[in-house]
Amino acid sequence: MARVAIWTSCVLLMVMAATCQGLSLGYYNRKCPHAEYVVRDVVGKAVNSNPGIGAGIIRMAFHDCFVQGCDASVLLDPTPANPQPEKLGPPNFPSLRGFEVIDDAKAAVEDLCPGVVSCADIIAFAARDASFFLSNSKIDYKIPAGRFDGRVSLANETLAFLPPPSFNLSQLIGSFQVKGLDVDDLVVLSGAHTIGRSHCSSFSDRLSPPSDMDPALATVLRSQCPANPNFTNDPTVVQDVVTPDTLDNQYYKNVLKKLVLFKSDAALLSSSTTATKVAKNALSALTWERKFARAMVKMAAIEVKTAANGEIRKLCRVVN
Ligand code: HEM
Ligand SMILES: *[C@@H]1O[C@H](CO)[C@@H](O)[C@H](O)[C@H]1NC(C)=O
Ligand SMILES: *[C@@H]1O[C@H](CO)[C@@H](O)[C@H](O)[C@H]1NC(C)=O
Ligand SMILES: *[C@@H]1O[C@H](CO)[C@@H](O)[C@H](O)[C@H]1NC(C)=O
Repeated sequence: MARVAIWTSCVLLMVMAATCQGLSLGYYNRKCPHAEYVVRDVVGKAVNSNPGIGAGIIRMAFHDCFVQGCDASVLLDPTPANPQPEKLGPPNFPSLRGFEVIDDAKAAVEDLCPGVVSCADIIAFAARDASFFLSNSKIDYKIPAGRFDGRVSLANETLAFLPPPSFNLSQLIGSFQVKGLDVDDLVVLSGAHTIGRSHCSSFSDRLSPPSDMDPALATVLRSQCPANPNFTNDPTVVQDVVTPDTLDNQYYKNVLKKLVLFKSDAALLSSSTTATKVAKNALSALTWERKFARAMVKMAAIEVKTAANGEIRKLCRVVN
């Protein structure tokens, strides 16, 4: 209960432009006035040439925040001192994409204001901007900033915190709860599976009976995927067969029609509470768009670092 109350007031405070978790709206207004415009410009160009990169960036925000908090730990490259950073963990490698866009955005803001804008904030801004462009500007939210970048990044922490697509509903709820996110956040954020792609290996267990996937979709996917995908033979398919490049509430219509790839997607129908939420999101695009924006802001506040335990990296791929 206490946690719920804290989160509720946190989100309210953010809406009122006050601070929360050391974060504040317009954090760079004086420190680096054009920072947010520059990031949006870089992201807009990238998404325009490849919408899939926008999907990658939204997923990157999730994978960053669930491991060591929203601190850009997912961006760190391997080094002799740390040969196995997060980005080499199984949920991230080789599927996570969009790193070059974050590099480009960081280079552009460093040109304007060196050493001021954190990589962690750039991920949060870039995910917000990707959501804006991929939703045809329907999802348009402000996001507090002031995150610092972390120095710890361990591949073996990724499987501990990032839920795999094989999870059932209680496991999914548990992994969100550990990070202070509730069942509504789980349902609302799962809607991100209305864009982007998946490798066959993430759902190949659902292509042969018994499976509750729509049989026609399973047939199409069997023609696109090898029977036993492996690292060198693992094609990708679109997640949302209806509107693959639009961040919309089509995901929920797909869940209801069993047109989703993962067990974790289908699992949202396995309790009446979550099934009702799926049905509501399927019915009202506007309600889901608003909820998605709020949940993205909430997710972007997980275990945020401060000057006391973080830094402003010069390059997003290496600690200072
Ligand atoms: C609820 C638990 C979740 C599970 C089990 C899950 C699992 C997955 C898996 C297995 C993939 C495919 C990766 C691949 O094979 O290439 C994927 C893709 C994706 N996920 Fe999730 N995910 C979850 C939640 C989220 C959340 C909270 C977000 C963001 C708000 C998100 C955004 C995405 C996006 C945008 C893609 C497509 C990425 C691309 O095209 O590069 N997912 N997810
Ligand atoms: C994770 O990896 C680090 C460095 O490789 C190691 O020090 C740590 O003990 C590992 N933790 C677990 C839980 O395996
Ligand atoms: C979900 O999976 C866990 C771990 O395998 C299991 O203990 C639990 O009973 C499952 N829950 C449901 C509702 O199937
Ligand atoms: C992966 O699968 C393909 C065929 O699907 C096979 O030819 C190849 O040897 C496999 N590679 C490994 C590393 O198992």
